[in-house]
Amino acid sequence: MTLVAELSALVPGATVLPEGERAAPYERDESGLGRYPPQAVVLARSVDDVVAVLRYSREKRLPVVPRGAGTGKSGGALAERGGIVLSLEKMDRIVEVSRADMVCVVQPGVVLETLQKAVEEQRLFYPPDPNSQAMCSIGGNLAHNAGGPRAVKYGVTSNYVLALEAVLPDGTVVRTGHRSWKGVAGYDLTHLLVGSEGTLAVITEATLKLIPLPRRVETLLAVFPDEDAAAGAVQAIFDAGLLPRACELFDGPTMRAVGPRAPFKFPDGVGGALLIEHDGHGDGVTEELARSGELCTSQGALEVLAAQDEAQRRKLWETRRMVSVALTDIRPFKISEDVAVPRGQLIEMIRAVRRIGEKHGFPTASYGHAGDGNLHVNLLFRGADERARGEAAIDEVIETAIRLGGTITGEHGVGLAKRRFLRKEQGEAVVALQKRLKRAFDPDDLLNPGKIFP
Ligand code: MLT
Ligand code: ZN
Repeated sequence: MTLVAELSALVPGATVLPEGERAAPYERDESGLGRYPPQAVVLARSVDDVVAVLRYSREKRLPVVPRGAGTGKSGGALAERGGIVLSLEKMDRIVEVSRADMVCVVQPGVVLETLQKAVEEQRLFYPPDPNSQAMCSIGGNLAHNAGGPRAVKYGVTSNYVLALEAVLPDGTVVRTGHRSWKGVAGYDLTHLLVGSEGTLAVITEATLKLIPLPRRVETLLAVFPDEDAAAGAVQAIFDAGLLPRACELFDGPTMRAVGPRAPFKFPDGVGGALLIEHDGHGDGVTEELARSGELCTSQGALEVLAAQDEAQRRKLWETRRMVSVALTDIRPFKISEDVAVPRGQLIEMIRAVRRIGEKHGFPTASYGHAGDGNLHVNLLFRGADERARGEAAIDEVIETAIRLGGTITGEHGVGLAKRRFLRKEQGEAVVALQKRLKRAFDPDDLLNPGKIFP
């Protein structure tokens, strides 16, 4: 029997796709790292399907690569070594939203926006959003511990995960954590699995913490002569004791790239911008936004524009969400990093990126979650042949982030894209310890092999 025939017999409720046209979307993700065709794709519909595929993988010594919506940016869902791509997209039920317990229980295939809408109907809030809520799934968010613009105030995905159901590589189903908001029994396996990029177990259900939905959200955009002034304003806002729920920076090249396609038109002659949002439950929100605006002005902002209604607010956020794609309008190729540095080092990081770009002869564009020091640094180039030279420049970007006390990845994960840097950040002993953990879960190295580790 062929692999596909065997799998189809094993998981009759699931869809099994052979290598070829229908499986083509599963060969790639949003990392731009290329195509990696799996031998088969299984679209699981139940925990039993996941169990069966993992047992089969062990028996046949075939790698299994778990996959959410394929929106990842580090290559975590690519079948680098072939094998079976195990898609969780059809396990997309919101099992429960409980106001009494302020939790929800979800399957991994739920699209983030669907979950957000469902909980908001009950005036509850699930804050994490990696800026792709219309496409990304909760499973991918859990695997990579997604962050996004609101992480500066509300934290990242792991801050909201209370319990998991997951299938270990040998097919054992485990339940970790608790539905209660508190619980400290034993090792915190829940938060070991969150962010483990599908290398330790396949998550099949999650219990997530919800908080009250803020009644007021107010947003402004401040434009500056350059990005250094914008970064200076970030510092001033936090120094003043304010905690915006988003504090996003655009540098000049980013603004010029996104300008032509964006619904919001930046004024002419500006070279940096901040998108700032405050939220809460009373009038204090307006005051805080006004204070942030004043601080921007005192740091040299040329204009501060407060969104007057929901439509204006949406335009600003749509503009922000377009950035990643818009950058390829000015140069077709880019290497994107998502380093994070301590907030106090933000200006230094931005300057270093500019210097590195100039030294290697590449335009750069930096933007992102300035409030928590998580910058999306992009090297832009014309042809794929420039990539090798770009990699050398990226090494310097990464080294700078580490030297400034930061990390190689603030939110996209290591995957394939950053594994060569892991040792640089964490050192041999910590990498070796993590590899021992990997072996304890997956002694045959069949679950998402090759990811994370150098
Ligand atoms: C974002 O913040 O927009 C996302 O992390 C994607 C990116 O821009 O790289
Ligand atoms: Zn981001």
